[in-house]
Amino acid sequence: MSTEPSASQVEQFRDLIVGRLGLQFDETKLGNLARVLSLHGGTDKDAYLAMLAAESGPYPALHKLAVDLTVTETYFYRNVEQIQAFAEVAMPACLLARDGLPVRVLSAGCASGEEPYTLAIAARETAGLGAGSVQIRAVDANPAMLAKAGGARYSGWSLREVGAAMRARWFARDGDLHALNEGVRRSVRFEQRNLAREDEELWAPDSYDIVFCRNVLMYFSPAQAQAAVARIAGAMSPGGYLFLGHAETLRGLSHDFHLCHTHATFYYQRKQQVGAPAREPAFFQPPWSGDRVPPPPPNDPAWADMIARAAQRIDTLAVGAPQAGRGLSESSQPDLQQALSCLHREQFEQSLALIEKLPQQHADDPDVLLLKAVSLSQSGMLAEAQDVCHALLARDELNAGAHYVLALCREEDGDNPAALAHYRSAAYLNPGFALARLHVGVLERRMADPEAARRDLAQALLLLQHEDPSRLLLFGGGFPRSALINLCRAELAALGA
Ligand SMILES: C[S@@+](CC[C@H](N)C(=O)[O-])C[C@H]1O[C@@H](n2cnc3c(N)ncnc32)[C@H](O)[C@@H]1O
Repeated sequence: MSTEPSASQVEQFRDLIVGRLGLQFDETKLGNLARVLSLHGGTDKDAYLAMLAAESGPYPALHKLAVDLTVTETYFYRNVEQIQAFAEVAMPACLLARDGLPVRVLSAGCASGEEPYTLAIAARETAGLGAGSVQIRAVDANPAMLAKAGGARYSGWSLREVGAAMRARWFARDGDLHALNEGVRRSVRFEQRNLAREDEELWAPDSYDIVFCRNVLMYFSPAQAQAAVARIAGAMSPGGYLFLGHAETLRGLSHDFHLCHTHATFYYQRKQQVGAPAREPAFFQPPWSGDRVPPPPPNDPAWADMIARAAQRIDTLAVGAPQAGRGLSESSQPDLQQALSCLHREQFEQSLALIEKLPQQHADDPDVLLLKAVSLSQSGMLAEAQDVCHALLARDELNAGAHYVLALCREEDGDNPAALAHYRSAAYLNPGFALARLHVGVLERRMADPEAARRDLAQALLLLQHEDPSRLLLFGGGFPRSALINLCRAELAALGA
């Protein structure tokens, strides 16, 4: 009879899973892990764990585990804007680059097949494209999902975003299910592969023009997500397109891609050269904080404490504390505390003067540039602030702070559409960035999009209550949390919400 695993066995299991499948389980999921370990480990959990640790080759035990450990929710035409961007932007651009050869698409983490089949249908549905325009390879670690994908029979629930006419074109009724058209079915090749492992064949250079890796990396540990994105980038053609889940970003994971925004959705284009290490900007939460509400600060600390804390965080990165070999002496640290203090007191000239006085080695540090851009924008030097933001974005295109300050400047110049695009980029790149979300909502209301404004302001209201004080200090324009919350409430009230 199977017994409950011990805490240390569950811990060992958790480490093995993150190492082998990339999947990260936080403390709240340990009960589920214990259940799965009981199920697979039988009476001798230690022997099972040792077998799992030693397993190599096709990894049968690991793949069996994937059936119980993966989240497999998917459906046809999920996030339809991305499918439109695929068909109307990525496919035509890649077809041109391929000079008539079919575009090579990878659906990484394809689950039961709805995503790659959607891409095959979308290519056929789009004028100028067609069945021969695309080759789709779809991979997943979960054998049960791949078996379902191969069967290509789906419930009405899987087709909930597919209209009647399209259903009639591509599916035939089969009892309660819908059987996919044979031609579409044959155009997708399914394989069992593990995205968390090196795999020379899967990741061979220049193998894919378009990669969909949606709602997979959000379950990976940051290190495994970073490694998987590096493999994807290495296997893509320069200029190829990468689609992540709509709430996932590459911020802090990769500098190998440009950010694209069309069809009201974000996606990425691979740069010509890849391999630049990603660095997490100081002022932001880890990228995976997106769908988790951060814990509330105990109480808003006094401004002085907050300034010290914010400056400390900049210092840590500015002098490269975690990196060996870089100077950590007192004198080598930029005095950002004073500059932040001046910013808080609205002494922008002094803040700029202090930034200018920083040792040359810190002049191009992203955090220093951000502080400079904020100080310039606050003192009305909009053109100079935008130049600094552009310099920052040239180094780090996914810097949410730079997009935010650029948006403030564009708004100040009366260019609301450009401002909204940059606020949206900031809010997308850092889903916890309350001020960016607030400005998105305010501009949407002003630009007569009440439905979107209501949604974004409601989210901003939630985020503002938990927003990091040092981010409010840097980007809040001198307004305390309470004033920003009141502003958000007033905007919502004006919308009748
Ligand atoms: C939530 S589904 C996403 C399906 C589809 N991409 C979508 O967005 O609708 C996540 C899929 O990723 C797969 N997955 C998780 N870890 C994986 C790994 N290490 N290698 C390959 N696939 C993995 C799971 O088996 C699951 O089918």
